[in-house]
Amino acid sequence: MGKKIRWVGAGALAGMCAPEISRKAGQEMKQFEILHDAWLEVEDGRISAWGRMSDLPQDGVPTADLRGDWILPAFCDPHTHLVFAASRAGEFVDKINGLTYEEIARRGGGILNSAAALAETPEDALFDSAAKRLEEIMHTGTAAVEIKSGYGLETEAELKMLRVIRRLKEKSPMEIKATFLGAHAYPARYRNHHEAYLKELCAEMLPRIAAEGLADYIDVFCDTGFFSAAETEYILEAGARYGLKPKIHANELDYSGGIEAGVKYGAVSVDHLECTGPEQIEVLLHSNTMPTVLPGTAFFLGIENAPARKMIDAGLPLAMASDYNPGSCPSGSMPFITALACIKLKLLPEEALNAVTLNAAAAMEAGPGFGKIAIGMPAHFMSLKGINSIAEIPYFFSRNPVSGLYLKGKRVV
Ligand code: NIG
Ligand code: FE
Repeated sequence: MGKKIRWVGAGALAGMCAPEISRKAGQEMKQFEILHDAWLEVEDGRISAWGRMSDLPQDGVPTADLRGDWILPAFCDPHTHLVFAASRAGEFVDKINGLTYEEIARRGGGILNSAAALAETPEDALFDSAAKRLEEIMHTGTAAVEIKSGYGLETEAELKMLRVIRRLKEKSPMEIKATFLGAHAYPARYRNHHEAYLKELCAEMLPRIAAEGLADYIDVFCDTGFFSAAETEYILEAGARYGLKPKIHANELDYSGGIEAGVKYGAVSVDHLECTGPEQIEVLLHSNTMPTVLPGTAFFLGIENAPARKMIDAGLPLAMASDYNPGSCPSGSMPFITALACIKLKLLPEEALNAVTLNAAAAMEAGPGFGKIAIGMPAHFMSLKGINSIAEIPYFFSRNPVSGLYLKGKRVV
């Protein structure tokens, strides 16, 4: 028998499902199992049993008292840009004064502003600030996170970012996936030479990234003013030659063709989706691609939300992510994302929680046990304080309910 511990006195245990379940779609998203007054047993880092406190075995297994805190699967955050050099608070004020995200970008600000700051910042400093952000999001319950490059936009700077992400993977107890986003914006010197940048990206960046094994996925910002659907397909084709599956930015600012391009190339996820109509929903229904919405971005930019309600009602699965980045969502708080899903997207609390746990794990192909409480699976869970019902998690929208985070059964927060 291995090393066992029982977490007892949980106000409730929630988010249990069969080990083989890896996503929920449509009506299934309303199911989020709850057992009140519960205990959870972990053996050698894996979930081995649970039950009601009234049925707690009296067999001498060591216990730890949760004093009424709830246990849920820890959050997964399948879309972030959390390696960056500096805030863009100046542009935040520009926006208050009336400029749009696209207008700021056209003036050479936005992503290019972040790229200029990153070029000046040594790798160690980037690592230190990103490691602090990982610490920050662990305190709000995130156990698995995808991190993109895309503020390099030059071969060496993109490699610098991806090496920072590799170091984060080595140092952090979290599950981390790295995505190459060289196609985030055209650098200023390539503004009128798109082909030349695409060539640098595919012929110089990709082979070096692949040789060092620095990326798990490839991403393109497929949108008006950024990369067209044809350019996106060209890049995804090149990525496929290096075994990189797509996870792409699609349809944030316009009906860009990004959803269709992502599905065509077998994307793990297509993300943003503010501009999604019945035709795009139909395309997604015939795919395994996880639609992933980022309500923090729509909130911060004051743009239309993705039609998440319609997507779920049409039978789609849905994941959510923070998009943590300095330009369009300077927050990695998944409790806040859960609240926005209910308040702005009209998801039920159960649907929102499935979107930030089980389906979010699927949107980043997180390892076994992420996003669920399941027998035999690694115990990645969080404890929440001050909660009396599932609805109270999003209801107290500015509260951080997280009191603990556990990876493979070990407390890390
Ligand atoms: O997901 N849409 C493109 N990229 C980021 C924003 C990056 C930035 O503005 O720095 C996003 O919103
Ligand atoms: Fe993004």
